[in-house]
Amino acid sequence: MGRTVIRGGLVVTAAEEVEADVLIEGERVAALALRGTEAAGTWARGDAAVIDATGHYVIPGGVDAHTHMEMPFGGTQSADTFETGTRAAAWGGTTTIVDFAIQSPGQSVRSGVDAWMAKADGACAIDYAFHAILSDVNESSLKEMDVLVDEGVTSFKLFMAYPGVFYSDDGQILRAMQRGAANGALTMMHAENGIAIDVLVEQALAEGRTDPRYHGEVRKALLESEATHRAIQLARVAGAPLYVVHVSAGEAVEELARARDKGLNVFGETCPQYLFLSTDNLAEPGFEGAKYVCSTPLRPREHQELLWRALRTNDLSVVSTDHCPFCFTGQKDMGVGDFSKIPNGMPGVENRMDLLHQAVVDGHISRRRWIEIACATPARMFGLHPRKGTVAPGADADIVVYDPRAEQVMSAETHHMNVDYSAYEGRRVTGRARTVLSRGRVVVDDGNYLGQAGHGRYVPRSTCQYLV
Ligand code: URP
Ligand code: ZN
Ligand code: ZN
Repeated sequence: MGRTVIRGGLVVTAAEEVEADVLIEGERVAALALRGTEAAGTWARGDAAVIDATGHYVIPGGVDAHTHMEMPFGGTQSADTFETGTRAAAWGGTTTIVDFAIQSPGQSVRSGVDAWMAKADGACAIDYAFHAILSDVNESSLKEMDVLVDEGVTSFKLFMAYPGVFYSDDGQILRAMQRGAANGALTMMHAENGIAIDVLVEQALAEGRTDPRYHGEVRKALLESEATHRAIQLARVAGAPLYVVHVSAGEAVEELARARDKGLNVFGETCPQYLFLSTDNLAEPGFEGAKYVCSTPLRPREHQELLWRALRTNDLSVVSTDHCPFCFTGQKDMGVGDFSKIPNGMPGVENRMDLLHQAVVDGHISRRRWIEIACATPARMFGLHPRKGTVAPGADADIVVYDPRAEQVMSAETHHMNVDYSAYEGRRVTGRARTVLSRGRVVVDDGNYLGQAGHGRYVPRSTCQYLV
């Protein structure tokens, strides 16, 4: 690969906005030059390929730190493979994903990581990394954490939900957090009180409340905030950092804010579905609500403003997708007549950058904050910076030339995710990735896919870069 110049755009990073041209040499950004300077003029005169970004933003490729490709869950498997899911990500301007390798109960963590590495190897259109899910915390899995951290798997997800599947009790959580405090790993927490939720599920079904909307009613905001509070206290006891995933309830945000006001290393992530959708969607007629079944669940509309505010104040610092798609026909319908059998998860890896740009248009966040929560902070949080999440000399040339004026209507008819519905069907948004580069190679350009399965490489990660 030779030299490429991206000319005429507004470079937007988390730190600044500058009219500059970007020189790429091979897979990396070589330099930025303010427009009109001699350097910028010289670059375009040589043998470099020139990408015209006039009237566009030049932004870092999105970093989606929470995806589930080909994930066995709820008696089925998420519908996007690493190939289809990373291709869809690229279409949407995301150039790195961090997926979750699952330790099965009774198995080693290593065997989960190996299995996920094998699934992703040779399949991905963009770069990828892994967290590990701990479903069986014991002496040997705790020891494995140390080795995995050294190898670049530096974050571990634990579940306070899903008893009998991924659930860990408080003792197991404390032990894993203690280990993380010692080896530098970041504990990621699915914070919902799953034991209490299962009681409410049983009672709802016994009373004939079986429709999708009851998924939202039994998974109460209080049970999210209680678990968030408990996770924070356990992390304090362990002296460990904590990252709470897919936060949806305002009450849970309050717990995070209180912890952060104390100066604790506690971080929160939310997802587009909680910012743009609500329990109104879960209550759509017939079985339509199943399309929106995920956990934590969608909340009543009034929570959205609390989440936006927390994104502005940094009480929530990352927006990831939790992309975990299941087709409406053949997968979600496993739960007809029993909401607890609807596979939990929603599609979104292709939509995140555009939905968050719409949030800029709507005035919820600034342009730089868009890049911060979608690119820079996830990269720093999960040890991918400075290779990912910014446009700077030395960084991987994962760059999106973004058209802030393009109009699009989101739809399953036109999206590239391997799922038969869009959670945002018919939604009109302004903005779209026009040209997407992954390590210097153009993978999407003007409505054409130019990428290739296997171009994406595994990226070992360093530890969280926010710890003090
Ligand atoms: O409903 C969800 N979130 N499915 C994916 C698994 C998880 O808990 O993140
Ligand atoms: Zn989860
Ligand atoms: Zn998830």
